[in-house]
Amino acid sequence: MIITELIEKKRFRGEMTREELEFLVSGFVSGSVQECQMAAFMMAVCINGMTDRETADLTDIMMHSGDTADLSDLPGVKVDKHSTGGVGDTTTLIVAPLVAACGGTVAKMSGRGLAHSGGTLDKLESVPGVSVEQTMERFKEIVRKIGIAVIGQSRNLVPADKKMYALRDVTGTVRSIPLIASSIMSKKLASGSDAIVLDVKMGKGAFMTTLPDARKLAGEMVGIGKNLGRRTVAIITDMNRPLGMAIGNGLEMKEAVEALTGKVPLTDPLVRVCMVLGGEMLLLSGIASSQEEAEAKLTEALVSGRGYMKLRDMIAELGGDVSFLDDPEKLVRTSSVKPVCSDRAGYIGALDAKKLGLASCVLGAGRLRLEDVIDPAVGILMKKRCGDPIEKGEPFADLFVNDDSRLGDALKMILEAVTVTDEKPEDLPLVYDIIR
Ligand code: URA
Ligand code: CA
Repeated sequence: MIITELIEKKRFRGEMTREELEFLVSGFVSGSVQECQMAAFMMAVCINGMTDRETADLTDIMMHSGDTADLSDLPGVKVDKHSTGGVGDTTTLIVAPLVAACGGTVAKMSGRGLAHSGGTLDKLESVPGVSVEQTMERFKEIVRKIGIAVIGQSRNLVPADKKMYALRDVTGTVRSIPLIASSIMSKKLASGSDAIVLDVKMGKGAFMTTLPDARKLAGEMVGIGKNLGRRTVAIITDMNRPLGMAIGNGLEMKEAVEALTGKVPLTDPLVRVCMVLGGEMLLLSGIASSQEEAEAKLTEALVSGRGYMKLRDMIAELGGDVSFLDDPEKLVRTSSVKPVCSDRAGYIGALDAKKLGLASCVLGAGRLRLEDVIDPAVGILMKKRCGDPIEKGEPFADLFVNDDSRLGDALKMILEAVTVTDEKPEDLPLVYDIIR
C-alpha cells in the first residue's frame, strides 16, 4: 500500500478498509508512517468523517496495538470513568475517591491535557513526588489495598493512541467524532474495567459544541462498549462554561481537595456533576439501586471525609507528598498572582470555557507544542460564575503566573472570554441527557 494514496482516499471521502486502517495505524506506531502523514490523514478524517464500521475497526485496531490489561483477578466490579475533555473539570479527582469510599473499585488509566482541555495525569503530577507511571502489578496492588488507583496508561497500552493523541493535540485534529470515540474506547476497552461511565461534554469549551453531535459521540461510544461486553453509560454534561472555578493543574488539584474537604457547597455545579457521574458508577457497580440511594452514599463519603482520605491514600501510594494536599496552598505558589478586573458593572453573562482553557495553556498549564513542559502551579482562578453580579473595577479572576512574558497574550484571551452584560443570563442545565 502507498501511504499517500491512503491519505488521498480519505481526503476524497473514500471509505477505508480494515486492512488500510491497519496499515496506517501499525505503520505509524512502528515509524514507517511519518508524523506529517498521520497528521494529514487525521485532518482528512476530521473533515470527511468515518462510517460506523470504520470507527469500530479503528477502535479495535488501536486497542490491539499493544497490551491489554486483565483485571479479572481483582475483586468486585471494576468501574472506570472518562471525560471527553473539559475545562475546569476536576471530576475524576473527586468522583473516583468518593466511589472508592463507597466500596466501589476504581482502576483507572487517565490521560493528559488535550488542546484547551485539562488532563487528570497533569493534575496528579502537580503534587510533588507523584509518579503516574506504574507497572501493572503495582497498579493492581494499589487497587487491592485501597480500592482506587488512577495512573497513566502503562507503557504499552494502546501505543497507537498515545502517539495519535500527542499528534492531534498539536495539529488541530482533536475535534472529530470518530477520532474521539476510537481514542477513548480503545483505551477503556484495553484497560480492562467491567463498567464504564463516559462524561460527554457539550458546549463552547467541549470538542462537541452541539447537543446532536454530543449525542452522536455518546451513542457511538456506548455502542462500541456494549458490543464488547462492557456495561457503558454516557452522560452529556454542559461545557459552555468551565465546570469549577480553577483552570490549571495545581489549582484544580486544590479545588478537588477543597471539594472533598467540604469547602465547596454541595450545590456547586462541580459537586452536582460529580454526584451524577458517581451515581452512575455506583449503579453500574451494583452498590446502589437508585440515583437517590447512590447520592446519599456519595454525600456521606464526602461529608465524613472518607472520600478525601481515599484521594490522600492514593497520592501517597503514587509517591506523592501529601503535605501538599493537607495544605493545598503549596500547590499554587507562583512568582505573582494578578487580578483581572471588569471595566464595567453588570452580570457575568458568558464565560467562554475554550478561550479560558487556551489562556491557561498560554500561561503554561498546557501544551501548545509537542515538546512543551507544563508548569503545575500556573493558571486561572475564577472569582465569579456566570450570572454573578460584578462591580466596575472588581476582579473576576486571579492569574497565577510564573513567566510574565506570557501574561499579555493570556490576558487578551481572558478578556475576550468574559462578557459582562446588563441582564442576568439564563441558567444552563448541568446535565442534558443520559444514554444507557
Ligand atoms: N479524551 C481522549 O482520551 N481522547 C480524545 O480523543 C478526546 C478526549
Ligand atoms: Ca481528558
